[in-house]
Amino acid sequence: MYREVDYEFYSGELLKQLPKGVFLNTRNGRAANTMTIGWASIGIMWGRPVFTAMVRPSRFSCGLIEKTGEFTISIPICSDFSDELLLCGQTSGESIDKFSECNLNAMKSKTLETYIVGDCELHLDCRVLMKNKIEGDSISLEIKNEHYKQDDFHNLYYAEIAAAYLIE
Ligand SMILES: Cc1cc2nc3c(=O)[nH]c(=O)nc-3n(C[C@H](O)[C@H](O)[C@H](O)COP(=O)(O)O)c2cc1C
Repeated sequence: MYREVDYEFYSGELLKQLPKGVFLNTRNGRAANTMTIGWASIGIMWGRPVFTAMVRPSRFSCGLIEKTGEFTISIPICSDFSDELLLCGQTSGESIDKFSECNLNAMKSKTLETYIVGDCELHLDCRVLMKNKIEGDSISLEIKNEHYKQDDFHNLYYAEIAAAYLIE
């Protein structure tokens, strides 16, 4: 059962889990893909709750976000998904079905066509409002040297949180 919650109330859980990884889920036609993300932010923009994801264009997921304009975020709060998060952060949905590989439950999201990882407790349905690409000359040299040695700058996806909910 979906229980809608205030995203502000659970934003601490998200920020606590991010360094260990959360699932960013996308839709490939009718199939589900997921990848691990560790960098993101949550806040208010244009008077709306917004989740901002940083996705490198080399990720298979990036093309899927471009195609559908949406993604979902699944956050484990109580359960330990470290093995699954590692595998989903090291393999590409272009060549394997990570949901079946990790035995994850691809469950319908509350408001979007994209699936969620139904085994996790907390979920965000996200609709992209805006995207931009990090430009090499707009970022500090310190960050550029630390994270972009190969010029593989992230795309930033600013997405409205259409729903925040728990699976119970
Ligand atoms: C802990 C962790 C955090 C990660 N965070 C990000 C991230 O924020 N953005 C990103 O583009 N890739 C990130 N990755 C790498 C992707 O998860 C990885 O490249 C994945 O295989 C992409 O899957 P895909 O090709 O199916 O999209 C992370 C990996 C790990 C293990």
